[in-house]
Amino acid sequence: MNIAYRENISMTHQDASPYQHLEVKPLTGGLGAELFGADLGSALGDDVIAEIRRALLQYQVIFFRDQEMTPEQHRDFGKRFGDLHIHEYVKGLDAVPEVMPVIKTEADTFNFGGTWHSDVTYHTTPPLGSILYALEAPEVGGDTMFANQYLAYETLSDGMKELLEGRKAVHSAEPIYGKTGAFSSRYKQGASMATKPVEVVLESQHPIFRTHPETGRKSLYVNGNFVVNLAGLSAIESAPILQRLYQHATTPEFCCRFRWRKGSVAFWDNRCVQHYAVNDYTGQRRVMHRVTVMGDQPY
Ligand code: SIN
Repeated sequence: MNIAYRENISMTHQDASPYQHLEVKPLTGGLGAELFGADLGSALGDDVIAEIRRALLQYQVIFFRDQEMTPEQHRDFGKRFGDLHIHEYVKGLDAVPEVMPVIKTEADTFNFGGTWHSDVTYHTTPPLGSILYALEAPEVGGDTMFANQYLAYETLSDGMKELLEGRKAVHSAEPIYGKTGAFSSRYKQGASMATKPVEVVLESQHPIFRTHPETGRKSLYVNGNFVVNLAGLSAIESAPILQRLYQHATTPEFCCRFRWRKGSVAFWDNRCVQHYAVNDYTGQRRVMHRVTVMGDQPY
């Protein structure tokens, strides 16, 4: 049996200087922190926003509890971090198109985001991050899991790093939103979040290892939703390498899991985190609003 034990995983909470406005409680050794002391629906000062950004960079995903935000306030909070993304394929609210509802009803069996992925990576400038706000949460279940892709990169063998350094992967919207995509049959079955298959899908190539534009750290940047092959290799040639990377990317030591309540908010850094919406609450309703902040072209 070939079991790779993971020893001495270096934790990422390096910056020890105190926060002035927020209380910050790390959630696991791998990533994630809960933040207390900010009302996201209010007009926060630049100094508080700067601390939220610092915590995001330090912990990769940050969580808030007991928030109350209208869609407009949610949009305005998101805008403090950059331009907002209006989803190409999933419709936003009529009045506030930057806010995308993520809904699973009592009758739905399919959930949105129920695979490990980063958001919208088929875009030439994929998101910096997403801010997900719970309006209705199941009594039990419906957690979201997150995985630190800096640690995923840093713990690859030197050989794997050398093999893939400088190479790109092809990211396409087809496997989810296209005619052959995962949503196609679910759309016909009437699932709330499955969109009508589109003829023309977006596609981009991004480095397999990207460098974070703000921290300078390298992360693994491939995901099972959107990557169709490694550039220069066929899908069948790419598959064994990708499967190994996906398995490694979600090693338990790189992960945290967030339990939602009404009013909870998760803000993840899409450039160095993958996430997974756990689909274990059949018969219960879950209603979220997502605002997504645009990012830069990966390098
Ligand atoms: C998503 O992938 O954006 C949805 C995550 C979730 O609903 O937990």
